[in-house]
Amino acid sequence: MSFWQTLHKPFFVMAPMADVTDPAYRKLIATVGKPDVTWTEFVSADGLYHTREIKKMKDEENPLMRDLQFSEIERPIVAQLFSSKPEMMDYASKLCAELGFDGIDINMGCPDKSIEKQGCGAAMIKNPEIAIKIVEAARSAGIPVSVKTRIGYNTEAIDEWIGMLLALRLPALTVHLRIRKEMSKVAAHWDVMPRIVKLRDEISPETRIIGNGDVKSVEEGRQKAELFGADGIMLGRAIFGNPYIFEVLSRGSDSQEHTRSTEYRLKALASLAHSFDELKPAKSFHIFKKHIKAFVTGFDGATELRLRLMSCENSNQIAKELADFI
Ligand SMILES: Cc1cc2nc3c(=O)[nH]c(=O)nc-3n(C[C@H](O)[C@H](O)[C@H](O)COP(=O)(O)O)c2cc1C
Repeated sequence: MSFWQTLHKPFFVMAPMADVTDPAYRKLIATVGKPDVTWTEFVSADGLYHTREIKKMKDEENPLMRDLQFSEIERPIVAQLFSSKPEMMDYASKLCAELGFDGIDINMGCPDKSIEKQGCGAAMIKNPEIAIKIVEAARSAGIPVSVKTRIGYNTEAIDEWIGMLLALRLPALTVHLRIRKEMSKVAAHWDVMPRIVKLRDEISPETRIIGNGDVKSVEEGRQKAELFGADGIMLGRAIFGNPYIFEVLSRGSDSQEHTRSTEYRLKALASLAHSFDELKPAKSFHIFKKHIKAFVTGFDGATELRLRLMSCENSNQIAKELADFI
């Protein structure tokens, strides 16, 4: 039995978000309020093969390997991979199993042109034969393989595309409730979730369906799961600047007033700065600046504090600026 089968419904998972859910931010979230399942940012399977086997890069110096760091407190954690070449997926998923990941998730929804050009992400929706081969290749690692996708490419294709993925009897399927063409520009189509759940009941009753799109809190997620029938809810952009978002899961109460205070958030930012120094994820400084923007906003003095933090050179200076402000 895989860990997916042990989760209580509705369960809540952290969305993979490139340059946001880096190892340092994931560790902070796991410390202050853990989701039921954690995802890494997406990582190129081809890139892992190329940097390790062709360029012979040392793992400590390899930015892709640094993105795959995780701490035990994040478990269960799945590594999200993308590739359109089965032999690369075979290589990368075995590597992730060796690294101790609890599962592999395959990205079949990313609309980014540079990803689609490689036949990956949402481009998979147009090429189901390759999608099947990629899932089969990932399964060679012997750990659970899930998929994250959208409800279609240019038009809604739930019966064909989601139906085909369900026929693969995945342990979990995350559905971002938009078609590729819509990017994230229209409201997510939660109204189609009951159809997806019905299809799941018919084709693959064991598959956990995770709904994704526009959910802003655990409380809203609970309502959506109840109303539309999803087994789990994935939260993405709501995590920006709010590492406490999953805290209510362990506390039992729905009130998050205390963690919304500026002091709470700034203390969390100081602790994030230390994790960045310790873990040194790829593109550290660039990513940390994004976190500063997301955390230091919406209170008196935020603009000045942000400017001071942006010019700091290390985590001690950041911690001092934040302590002085608090
Ligand atoms: C900055 C950013 C980076 C993202 N990176 C990934 C990624 O690496 N893999 C993936 O499957 N989806 C990625 N997504 C999509 C999110 O996981 C999620 O599907 C989307 O944001 C919709 O959920 P939300 O409305 O809760 O944010 C990204 C989204 C954002 C905003």
